Amino acid sequence: MPNEPIVQLLGVSKRIGPATIIDDLSFDVVPGEIFGFLGPNGAGKTTTIRMMVGLMTLTAGDIRIKGHSIRSSFEQAIRHVGAIVENPEMYKFLTGYQNLIHFARMVKGVTKERIDEVVRLVKLEERIHDKVSKYSLGMRQRLGVAQALLHRPSLLILDEPTNGLDPAGIRELRDYLRKLTRDEGITVIVSSHLLSEMELMCDRVAIIQRGRLVDIKPIGELVAGANVARTYRIETDAVDEGTVAAVGELDGVISVQALEAGLEIQTDRERIPDILAQLVSRQVRVYEIQALRPSLEDRFLEMTGGATHA
Ligand SMILES: Nc1ncnc2c1ncn2[C@@H]1O[C@H](COP(=O)(O)OP(=O)(O)OP(=O)(O)O)[C@@H](O)[C@H]1O
Ligand SMILES: [Mg+2]
Repeated sequence: MPNEPIVQLLGVSKRIGPATIIDDLSFDVVPGEIFGFLGPNGAGKTTTIRMMVGLMTLTAGDIRIKGHSIRSSFEQAIRHVGAIVENPEMYKFLTGYQNLIHFARMVKGVTKERIDEVVRLVKLEERIHDKVSKYSLGMRQRLGVAQALLHRPSLLILDEPTNGLDPAGIRELRDYLRKLTRDEGITVIVSSHLLSEMELMCDRVAIIQRGRLVDIKPIGELVAGANVARTYRIETDAVDEGTVAAVGELDGVISVQALEAGLEIQTDRERIPDILAQLVSRQVRVYEIQALRPSLEDRFLEMTGGATHA
């Protein structure tokens, strides 16, 4: 069945001592998507991923990978997963290629052709015979992904893969993750604490905070919500108190604040002509109007209530 979820979290909870770190978390990931797992520091992303790959036990609930329970059929479930959770161990004094050969020996059925294939997939062909000690952070990360792909997993899980990458590195990561989903039919789960990075990479995003699911949405919807302009800055000559009050009394104006040279107004877009008419009728000279769009990060903070720590 093509639409059967590849991963299902079913009421997953994790308690460590008195602390509830993950609280009744449920969501599905469908085949072929790049799924983002977004949350502030300490939200429980790594903990959830560790449970998905069997590095940590579940206190309650279950995780199914291709229908196999991580609790009762671990071997069958994990067979489909390639993951980078902590920094992958690489031998720096060996070349990238030698590292892959080394890891391939530990996995059944990895051919030399497969090694060449994963090298191409992560676009490391040109540097694969250099020592890892000469790699950039982004290149090391690709080598880690190559290693995670050796056994042909259908699901790739990367915990904070953009950490330390510059914008160009993030774009490259996005491009080859996209290629993996398109050409290899692989499903990808990535975690991050930055909505702006998720926007670049993901089809759908689950937002978690304090171990709970806040929202789960296609990235387009999440970002669209962030582009509603609600605050406008109007640059004018200095305005008197009477004008500020008059604007404040107009229909649909939520708030007005006088600036040194102008006003900052919270309102709907449709109200702008009325506001301008009011200003003009009071002989205020208007030079510029600017819509202050809340940034993606503002939007994310708004959704998570601004808290960063669990
Ligand atoms: N072994 C542990 N014992 C006790 N508490 C833990 C343990 N591991 C994690 N925690 C706590 O669980 C919460 C979630 O941690 P986790 O590492 O999963 O967050 P995260 O979303 O990955 O954060 P970050 O963005 O900083 O990587 C934190 O409050 C953390 O202190
Ligand atoms: Mg983490």
